Amino acid sequence: MTNDDWPTHTSFPKISGRLVDLRGLSIGDANDISRLMTYNISKSLWEVPYPYSLEHAQNFINSSRRDFESLKSVNFAILYKNNPEGDSSLVGIISLKNIDLDNKNANLGYWIGELYWGNGIASESVALVINHAFSILGLEEVYAFVYSENKASMRVLEKNGMTKKGEANEYSKKLGRYQNTTKFVIKRQ
Ligand SMILES: CC(C)(COP(=O)(O)OP(=O)(O)OC[C@H]1O[C@@H](n2cnc3c(N)ncnc32)[C@H](O)[C@@H]1OP(=O)(O)O)[C@@H](O)C(=O)NCCC(=O)NCCS
Repeated sequence: MTNDDWPTHTSFPKISGRLVDLRGLSIGDANDISRLMTYNISKSLWEVPYPYSLEHAQNFINSSRRDFESLKSVNFAILYKNNPEGDSSLVGIISLKNIDLDNKNANLGYWIGELYWGNGIASESVALVINHAFSILGLEEVYAFVYSENKASMRVLEKNGMTKKGEANEYSKKLGRYQNTTKFVIKRQ
């Protein structure tokens, strides 16, 4: 994909799976995002502060729009079709970040609200976004960084055909300690 055929903001992709729908973020999602972003989630993510205020969420949504228009990232709201709170409210976010159209790769990141863990939501969302990266965006490689203690996330990536590509020990300012981090990669078949 080149700059010329990148979808405009109005054509933000919508993706539907068996369990989830993925759509663009809107400012009305800010409340759900700040409410769902608990410490248990934030501690597994590099860039997400805790506590995560409504203003953090609004800034994230606004920067998501700009980053989509400038081809830097695609941040999807995850909706869960079996959500007892209604199937239009956001239960998590999945993103392709640092999209590099020259080297045809991107960094995958995601989180799911704690209430919804263990229902297969992350697994299906990752499958849908990897497919989008390869078949719609034309990327050749998707990679993800996971704290090595995050067994659930590693399982999600492995179930989706991603394989370990090295480990590093890095200092996390948020956690105040060194953390082993594993890189996972999948290439377009
Ligand atoms: C990691 C996370 C996204 C998983 O979301 P989820 O929707 O609950 O994931 P799924 O239900 O699709 O799958 C979880 C898998 O991990 C497994 N799992 C859960 N806890 C586990 C553990 N402690 N050890 C090993 N496997 C574990 C589950 O059994 C399941 O595998 P299965 O389908 O083979 O049974 C969610 O816990 C989360 O948002 N965590 C905080 C943020 C985060 O870690 N983001 C990823 C950063 S790289």
